[in-house]
Amino acid sequence: MAQIQAIKGFADLFPEDSALFLRMEQAAREVFPRYAFGELRTPLLEYTDLFRRSIGTETDVVQKEMYTFADSKERSMTLRPEATAGVMRAYIEHGVHAREAVSKFFTIGPMFRHERPQKGRMRQFHQINCECLGPREAEADAEIICMLMEFLGRLNLGDITLQINSLGCPNCRPAYRKILRDWLESLDPAGLCEDCRRRMETNPLRVLDCKVPTCRENTARAPVMLEHQCPECSAHLDTVLRHLRAQGVSFEINHRLVRGLDYYTRTTFEVVSGSIGAQGSVAGGGRYDGLISSLGGPDVPGIGFACGMERLALLMREDGEHFLSRPDFYLASLDDSCRDAAFELAQILRGAGLGGTLAFETRSMKSAMRQADKSRARFALILGPDELAAGTVAVRNMENGEQRAVSRAEAAGALKA
Ligand code: HAM
Repeated sequence: MAQIQAIKGFADLFPEDSALFLRMEQAAREVFPRYAFGELRTPLLEYTDLFRRSIGTETDVVQKEMYTFADSKERSMTLRPEATAGVMRAYIEHGVHAREAVSKFFTIGPMFRHERPQKGRMRQFHQINCECLGPREAEADAEIICMLMEFLGRLNLGDITLQINSLGCPNCRPAYRKILRDWLESLDPAGLCEDCRRRMETNPLRVLDCKVPTCRENTARAPVMLEHQCPECSAHLDTVLRHLRAQGVSFEINHRLVRGLDYYTRTTFEVVSGSIGAQGSVAGGGRYDGLISSLGGPDVPGIGFACGMERLALLMREDGEHFLSRPDFYLASLDDSCRDAAFELAQILRGAGLGGTLAFETRSMKSAMRQADKSRARFALILGPDELAAGTVAVRNMENGEQRAVSRAEAAGALKA
């Protein structure tokens, strides 16, 4: 019979892969609450309009990458391509702003984008996502970036770079957009890719982050966004950068950083790595002061980021085995008559907080030792008829080979000692 395989771009995570994910989640749960972030779990499925209205109809995500389908009542639904939109919906729907001036949420889980799979790019991938809603002040930007860098610092990644830019606000961006469009129109259109020729009209800023080398060369002298911002936006960015410098957080200004989602204003940032190929962005985020009101909510500003867990996993220096805890025991019976006592002993050990494997089938001494070795257990425990009669179990230390008989009542204590 033909085998059924996983959908392309959807991966299975075995324990050694999950171990890396767990390590990231653990670091997130240690760091984020110290900045007063609480965990918010939102649904994987939302009405399509939520993403169209928040991410923007002109973005690649909405135009080409969403898993969208109609339910039995012909309502259009979409598997979330990112977490921000759902967090905003929940915030508005539950009237959170009326209860608290500042709300901070983190969300961990799978996202779905129908992109061409490659190293570090999946169709189902996982994000660790943070949103801070309420503060307009630049300190909130500096704080969330410090938190992101502290979190990443715990993961023992290789070289990573924090890149920062500011996209301005509704007061200054339209003028810059016009200056940029005029400048782009003065270029020979043959020097830009088809996407960029279209973006010139719909969203000229996106031309700046096109990855096609000729587009990059031909737009190298484009007018710089930061030179066309209003005094408030410039002062905002200055404050963010001043705090980062004071905290010893190194960064680069990247004039081309515009991000692929439409909701950003002012501070935008990405963390990039040179060592995972084309998909080098491991985290990205920014401020989105108009997003909540554009979704019908109150005029509450916000800032956030998301890290891609698959990409972080590629960068983590330890492999998953490193984080898998070593079992305490491997317990085997040498004779069918010992199986009940073995079952009981395994449960006593687990009740005492120890972990390990019980061999269900009776084994020879040789095979029990081989399996114990393979399981990486600290101790092999063997129950034969002699031990059964004496109320003991043979305990072999797998590191130094020492073996002794221990009373079964004291086995847990002996393994812990
Ligand atoms: P984003 O830049 O679209 O931003 O995604 C954030 C991160 O998710 C990327 O830097 C990357 O590490 C990871 N990622 C994205 N697509 C894929 C994929 N197909 N496969 C593997 N990893 C991927 C957002 O999603 C925003 N919602 C971030 C944000 C939160 N902005 C404000 N708040």
